Amino acid sequence: MTPKTAQEIRSAFTSFFSERGHAVLPSASLIPRDPTVLFTVAGMVPFKPYFLGEETSPHPRAVTVQKCVRAGGKHNDLDEIGRTRRHLTFFEMLGNFSFGDYFKAEAIDWAWEFTTEGLGFDPDRLWVTVHHRDDEAAEIWREAAGVSPQRIQRMGEDNYWRMAETGPCGPCSEIFFDKGPEFGPDGGPAHGGEDRYLEFWNLVFMQFDQRPEGQVPLPEPSIDTGAGLERILTLIQGVESVFDIDEMVQLVGEASSVTGVKLGASPHSDVTLRSLAEHARTTAFLISDWVFTSNEDRRIGAMCCAASCAGPSAGPICWASPRR
Ligand code: GLY
Repeated sequence: MTPKTAQEIRSAFTSFFSERGHAVLPSASLIPRDPTVLFTVAGMVPFKPYFLGEETSPHPRAVTVQKCVRAGGKHNDLDEIGRTRRHLTFFEMLGNFSFGDYFKAEAIDWAWEFTTEGLGFDPDRLWVTVHHRDDEAAEIWREAAGVSPQRIQRMGEDNYWRMAETGPCGPCSEIFFDKGPEFGPDGGPAHGGEDRYLEFWNLVFMQFDQRPEGQVPLPEPSIDTGAGLERILTLIQGVESVFDIDEMVQLVGEASSVTGVKLGASPHSDVTLRSLAEHARTTAFLISDWVFTSNEDRRIGAMCCAASCAGPSAGPICWASPRR
């Protein structure tokens, strides 16, 4: 049976990769110990020292469902909230990781298998993009996964992923679901609308460390993938936007009841209601990770979450928080 709820999807994803030798690790804090990002913006953030070779992972393969916030710095979706059908500042990222272990072939093969068999998505509605110079990834999608060449498109900077201005980076390959002509023009993700072709999974082929003076190769090519749980739920539940999934719809309803403004009253008030719901959700998760509000600096509480830590340097001082 294909998963339907958020919890079923989390569990199907971690089981699938656990069966393929990945250690199932808990989500790290939303507050990274890394000063190059304000919040944990992706599943790979807690593992940056492993990608860079600064620390050795006890597990060559890992799988997580990571809490993420994109509200500052290079990955900042704040201005999109309520205006698009797909952006959230807080979201859960499903990710499988290889620290110098497997590379493109396995990452692509498993992503395709989980998408088509695990989630039950119709392969004829899936498109993929690859970096314009990545012939190898295009060939794996075509030959090993069996994706039709017409539905493999090449893109430039959009298919190159960076954690921040500095840090691990590499060419990436994204999987999109075609929601149908009622959501926009055709032509695939490279030419059609972003509401129609919903990107839900990004496979990053980590190969470089971006430094201020330029890129240097990572000690080992590695894999970092990120699939958006809320976007997958949108597709599975057959709803129009991330604000309509069961995890969000009640919050939007609550924003409507608190303000006395009905959803649908105007496009502007709809953006406001969705933003209220979304920001309340993000704020709740940040507070639960001991973030205090401040307009000056990163402020966190004194509570250490070491008991639930799984990442590098777990110890008496919370590894997921800035070093104090
Ligand atoms: N780290 C992959 C992504 O966030 O898309």
